[in-house]
Amino acid sequence: MKLDDPRSILITGASSGIGAALARAYAAPGKRLILGGRNAERLASVATDCEAIGAIVETRVLDVTDRAAMQAWIEGAFATGPVELVIANAGISGGTGGAPASESQAQVERIFAINIAGVVNTVFPAIAEMQKLPREAGRLRGQVALMSSLAGFRGLPGAPAYGASKACVRSLGEGLRGRTARHGIAVNVICPGFVKSPMTDINPYPMPFLMSAEKAARIIMRKLARNRARICFPWRLWALVWLFSILPVGLTDPLAARMPEKPTAES
Ligand SMILES: NC(=O)c1ccc[n+]([C@@H]2O[C@H](COP(=O)([O-])OP(=O)(O)OC[C@H]3O[C@@H](n4cnc5c(N)ncnc54)[C@H](OP(=O)(O)O)[C@@H]3O)[C@@H](O)[C@H]2O)c1
Repeated sequence: MKLDDPRSILITGASSGIGAALARAYAAPGKRLILGGRNAERLASVATDCEAIGAIVETRVLDVTDRAAMQAWIEGAFATGPVELVIANAGISGGTGGAPASESQAQVERIFAINIAGVVNTVFPAIAEMQKLPREAGRLRGQVALMSSLAGFRGLPGAPAYGASKACVRSLGEGLRGRTARHGIAVNVICPGFVKSPMTDINPYPMPFLMSAEKAARIIMRKLARNRARICFPWRLWALVWLFSILPVGLTDPLAARMPEKPTAES
């Protein structure tokens, strides 16, 4: 595959926000897009946009927490032809806004099920299928991208489970990358800051350096083409987050405690 021109791309959570913007950005005449999401209507609308550009689109309404359905979907996609790029993007958020001492255990479990197990259900069947592809000298078998977040670099009192899920995904992706590279499979971790989408539309606080989903998709595409290990953006927020993450936790706790809390409602 050519990193700067993947011909077949599978995206989870393609019915909305960043996933939908990525689908539209990758759409081009003759490209194969395999798009998953839960909301059939919104998924169909994204597919229509991509088809209008000339892409060949396959959609599947499914839940990333359904391990068997995910495995069957991904194996089926590879049975038609190699999938060059897989983006494990689907996710939900939720925080402590309006909650008593902590977010509920049910919310934590739901976030972990979708943001962690859902990513596992995407990434591992994809790597297993890529491994079966013939290895050509100097060429990659495939590329897998995991959607993390800048929220995954330091525990945040306003969204502990969300941040933990994104830290887990980042660590998983970075670990995998070092092992799969020698098998011709590139793994990348995407860590966006605030991106305008239904997930952030519910946040009742100012979001520094908020950017459109379209701009985020362009940045992600460009950096996936360069096989960047960590795709962290926008750089000004990334610089602040990095500083925040390397300072002693005890020192930054008072500031972290004053940060706004993500609403508890799932988004
Ligand atoms: N927006 C940000 O500022 C930001 C920043 C950093 C990271 N991220 C991450 O980027 C990813 C996309 O977020 P977004 O902002 O684009 O949010 P979004 O607009 O709410 O989109 C989330 C997508 O994930 C899908 N999804 C959620 N739960 C699912 C499930 N159980 N099974 C299958 N699909 C499911 C949704 O599908 P349906 O709508 O069909 O249910 C939707 O397509 C998430 O992983 C998020 O954590 C976002």
